[in-house]
Amino acid sequence: MNLIPVGVLGAGKYVPERILTNQELETMVETNDEWIVTRTGIRERRIASEQQATSDLCYEAAKIALDNAGITAEQLDLIVVATITPDMSFPSTACILQEKLGAKQAAAYDLSAACSGFVYGLANASNFIATGTYKYALVIGADSLSKITDYTDRNTCILFGDGAGAVVIGQVPEDRGFKSFELGADGSGGPLLKIEGGGSRNPASQHSIDQRLHYIYMAGAEVFKFAVRIMGNAADEALRKAGWDKADIDLLVPHQANMRIIQASLNRLNMTEEKCMINLDKYGNMSAASIPVALAEAAEQGRVKEGDRLILVGFGGGLTWGAAALVW
Ligand code: UT7
Repeated sequence: MNLIPVGVLGAGKYVPERILTNQELETMVETNDEWIVTRTGIRERRIASEQQATSDLCYEAAKIALDNAGITAEQLDLIVVATITPDMSFPSTACILQEKLGAKQAAAYDLSAACSGFVYGLANASNFIATGTYKYALVIGADSLSKITDYTDRNTCILFGDGAGAVVIGQVPEDRGFKSFELGADGSGGPLLKIEGGGSRNPASQHSIDQRLHYIYMAGAEVFKFAVRIMGNAADEALRKAGWDKADIDLLVPHQANMRIIQASLNRLNMTEEKCMINLDKYGNMSAASIPVALAEAAEQGRVKEGDRLILVGFGGGLTWGAAALVW
């Protein structure tokens, strides 16, 4: 079977207006700007309003991605939203978005792979296009982590922010597009990063709320060690499958979890910060939104030009990881 080459036709991002600074966090928990900046690289993050749910962030990012791709919502065949903060358990955020956009022809579903979700979504949706099943797909990574963050827990609340990044994917010339995907999971690490409450194991109840089970729990140091190892491994594997060398990379677009994790990935790839998209200082860790927001921002800022070789790489709860080699 001859596969159709698939790539990004347009990208867009949205972050809420409200800025939460390190200085403001100092008034909320026992922390300080110096600790946060040196341990993470984060200076501020965006927080969705009470009225904004994840589909609202998706909608704003999607409109820009569709515009940049030069297609209408009606032309979409598929919408995949990667998120761990859906508007509600069901219907899916993708279905809610389909209605908002008026994307009447599109199949729609959510995908749950935490911070790796966007790369999982790209791998997933691009197969439908490569096989000729669909022509255009909208893939979004979006999360409103502020809604599931415990703002009395200094181990987590300093890290997270809200946002959405979207791409329209479709057919591209043979020498462009996705050249490889590397996805993986290690369920044994699931307990390191989780929300236990509100699912079928611990349905929402007074008890689950009293125990704060509806908030993110994270064993930060363990996740850190995993991240440092897996980011390099996943990027290496995507390079190998694409037949590229480390020196071929024009831009690395990593998950924006911690500057020290990004730095370790750069060391492993023999790269410097000039060839890396970094925006966690402004947005913190936006889970599934981190990679697509960074990608859309790179495009906005003219940091990628046609023919550039990109590596997208992320890790997250699951535990999961994902990397992609992409010619822009
Ligand atoms: O998207 C994937 C999700 N997660 C991640 O990527 C997170 C990965 N992990 C990390 O980024 C880091 O582990 C953190 C930034 C979460 C923590 O940094 P760390 O260097 O691993 O610190 P630590 O957890 O080992 O804590 C060091 C110290 C502790 O104090 P003691 O026990 O040494 O007295 C903490 O209690 O820093 C303390 N601490 C803080 N101090 C000031 C922890 N959080 C804070 C804070 N402000 N916000």
